[in-house]
Amino acid sequence: MKIAMGNDHSAVEMKKEIKAYIEGKGYQVIDFGTDRTESCDYPIYGEKVGRAVVSGEADLGILICGTGVGISLAANKVKGVRACVCSEPFSAKLSRQHNNTNILAFGARVVGVELAKMIVDEWLKAEFEGGRHQRRVDMLMAIEER
Ligand code: RB5
Repeated sequence: MKIAMGNDHSAVEMKKEIKAYIEGKGYQVIDFGTDRTESCDYPIYGEKVGRAVVSGEADLGILICGTGVGISLAANKVKGVRACVCSEPFSAKLSRQHNNTNILAFGARVVGVELAKMIVDEWLKAEFEGGRHQRRVDMLMAIEER
């Protein structure tokens, strides 16, 4: 499975840790950067990862900025993206099971690396449950058409 990753300057170290962690579990990572710690603009990376996921270049995406907020907002502007910010594993798991999220975001200034690994683990192993949740996700995506 291919995971697109993107981050801004505030999350370079966190991205490296999580990238190595999921590669160690057998995931292939497409890294859209940044690897630089100079101040940069999170919308660039949120959009890149969003487009990679929607186009099918990657199966899922992981985004990290200071809070996870700005970079997830950027990704959510790409049609077809369902990105959520999660600071704990429960919401990450449910976001896949119920909301079929295709991008996970979190904040390098909010969670430590061990908690981030737990969040990522729960998100990656959870599966969309369909059923009544499919109807609601369909309703969600229909908003993009109006
Ligand atoms: C950068 O200083 C910071 O604003 C960014 O990483 C993120 O937290 C925005 O939502």
